Amino acid sequence: MGKDVIIACDFADKKSCLDFLDQFTEKKPFVKIGMELFYAEGPAIVKEIKNRGHKIFLDLKLHDIPNTVESAMAVLSGLQVDMCNVHAAGTQSMMEAAIRGLTRTDGTRPLLVAVTQLTSTSEERMQKDLLIDKSLEEVVSHYAFTSKNAGLDGVVCSPLEVEGVKKTCGTEFLTVTPGVRFSDGNMDDQVRVTTPQMANQMGSDYIVVGRPITKAENPVAAYTRCMNEFVGEI
Ligand code: C5P
Repeated sequence: MGKDVIIACDFADKKSCLDFLDQFTEKKPFVKIGMELFYAEGPAIVKEIKNRGHKIFLDLKLHDIPNTVESAMAVLSGLQVDMCNVHAAGTQSMMEAAIRGLTRTDGTRPLLVAVTQLTSTSEERMQKDLLIDKSLEEVVSHYAFTSKNAGLDGVVCSPLEVEGVKKTCGTEFLTVTPGVRFSDGNMDDQVRVTTPQMANQMGSDYIVVGRPITKAENPVAAYTRCMNEFVGEI
């Protein structure tokens, strides 16, 4: 499986998103659709973007009882997305149910990755609010381990956590990493950032990049730069 750059299409509505994607006339990038756009536009936006030839990571971070997650995943799998996700905190049995729901009658399914701890959660908040009395690093690696046991393909994590995850779960276990910025770019609200090149060196399989591309003066040039720095080609 090749490395790829996933553009976070954090747009409020269909028009802004499609106007943005219209600029990509040659290579159709892998895109991430999150809660904002999905809740605003519904499954139709997924079908529309898919029909334009893009791969889609549907980032809805499911977390519920196993039965509900299984049924919801069956619906998402029917949208022909390429990747979707759950919270590992839903436990291994919830993740196993997610895999069952995602698996189509012909045995195929989208990739499934788990959110370990959100990068917005600090170790202090995890310990005080969630009463998890361990280090963040241990929790992320352990959640990656339960995800792997449930049959998932990988996790969403910080590039800084990739090494620990790969050590626990093996190099084939995928890491999808946000928090990427160009060395000469704006940090926005991200705190712990790496460049595309550093994310590659740290072993990330997919980087998720939003504003450095969506808010760039020339988004296609920014995407091409990102691909060049991360995978060395386009
Ligand atoms: O614009 P930016 O590059 O910061 O976008 C990063 C994307 O990755 C956003 O869609 C954000 O919600 C998502 N994300 C993140 N950190 C996480 C999980 C997801 O930034 N831990």
